Amino acid sequence: MTACPVSIVAPHPAKFSGVILAELGLSLEIETYRLHRSIRVLDPFAGVGGMHKLSRSEKGQWSLFEAGYDIETVGVEIEPEWACQHPRTIVGDATALPFPDASFDAVITSPTYANRMADHHNAKDGSRRMTYRHTLGRPLTPGNSGGMQWGEEYRGLHVRAWEEARRVLMPGGLMMLNVSNHIRKGEEVPVVEWHMETLAALGFIIEDDRVALTPRMRFGANGTARVEYEHVISARVAS
Ligand SMILES: C[S@@+](CC[C@H](N)C(=O)[O-])C[C@H]1O[C@@H](n2cnc3c(N)ncnc32)[C@H](O)[C@@H]1O
Repeated sequence: MTACPVSIVAPHPAKFSGVILAELGLSLEIETYRLHRSIRVLDPFAGVGGMHKLSRSEKGQWSLFEAGYDIETVGVEIEPEWACQHPRTIVGDATALPFPDASFDAVITSPTYANRMADHHNAKDGSRRMTYRHTLGRPLTPGNSGGMQWGEEYRGLHVRAWEEARRVLMPGGLMMLNVSNHIRKGEEVPVVEWHMETLAALGFIIEDDRVALTPRMRFGANGTARVEYEHVISARVAS
């Protein structure tokens, strides 16, 4: 874990949209209601900390039940310029979490999607290139999946991250994954299906796969060939 150099911040290219936060927030509210207690929730790929909007202290409009249960949020993000934008996000690596076994009720997260946002260039011509590297303004930290295209390296990192998620989840714990396919060379790349199969292979019980229409970027290569929706996969550790 690295101390937060709070003086440096950077914009982020792929924050949670309101639609996805609403999906996640509703499920967490239902989880507090189901368990009849406050819950502790982790986002291991936390970016600038959109998930913290779901905590009791910040969310306001997401509160459905008046039982007064809290949703305590904790984020982990590998890039200090993004992590340090929220006091409940620590700088760390999703594949080596600094938390004990069975210490969270839920893991909700949006990993990178292995799409063109993983391109490495740093555009100097002012063109609208939405990549992790370009938006951060320096090379990504080694181990940042935001620099990984669809392939063995991307898949290996996420197997390790989902093993860690399962380790820190309590028995019966909820896992929610926001992910999307993309078009490459005219073909849809089955990123969503791979994550779902991987969760199942790691022993998660898949409960749901919902699609949400979200605004997608319309510039850059493949500007007219976008997958128009994202998925929210829900899975559970056996109790
Ligand atoms: C899709 S973004 C998440 C954005 C976030 N939901 C938000 O609202 O800001 C994925 C994030 O995962 C981070 N990341 C990539 N590899 C990581 C790793 N090994 N450990 C921790 N964070 C990582 C990236 O830097 C990026 O900020």
